[in-house]
Amino acid sequence: MTVRDVRGRREDVPICGPWSRLRAANLRGVSDLVAGAAALARRHVNTANLANRWLHVKAVAQRAEEVAGTVEPADRCLLVAAAWLHDIGYAPDLVETGMHSLDGARYLRRLGYPLRLAALVAHHSGARFEAIERGLTRAIVEFPDEGGLVAEALATADLTTGPRGQRMTFEARMAEILGRYPEDSTVHQAMRRARPALAAYVQRTIERLSADQS
Ligand SMILES: [Fe+2]
Repeated sequence: MTVRDVRGRREDVPICGPWSRLRAANLRGVSDLVAGAAALARRHVNTANLANRWLHVKAVAQRAEEVAGTVEPADRCLLVAAAWLHDIGYAPDLVETGMHSLDGARYLRRLGYPLRLAALVAHHSGARFEAIERGLTRAIVEFPDEGGLVAEALATADLTTGPRGQRMTFEARMAEILGRYPEDSTVHQAMRRARPALAAYVQRTIERLSADQS
């Protein structure tokens, strides 16, 4: 699939795999949701200051397609769309609270994206732990935390993909994040507390993937 940014530049990005065809029969526009998510992410994240972040986002979307068999067929395009958009809140023009998952979710809500998609972004990869560290627990509950298969698959895609899009084990990714942020920072503290829950999400998703492929 080719997407364009506001300047009309084109870039080939992975589409929503064969599942967009599955959904086409009974839910019009699902593949457009993914295409729109990819284009919106590109517009905000493919900038000079966020070049590595864009590499990461593209790879997370690809990884989400790879693990999409672990969620219900009806949720597969939602998962891929959320992967495209999960880090959009890092865009400087969207910063509001400084917590990228919440800022991104609020932006998506303003644009009229489905609440479920915005909520997956708000809570991705254990964001509730960061909300506690930042004193934003009352803000993040604007978005329901659905947990379950899609949230765990999204966390797996994010946490097995490195900051420049390289494939990483969960353990290496956690070490990379903890090493990148100072020990007394909110992100470091939050990820340290989130680690057992996130490890379980990834483990369960990998087990589901193995079962799906056997
Ligand atoms: Fe990410």
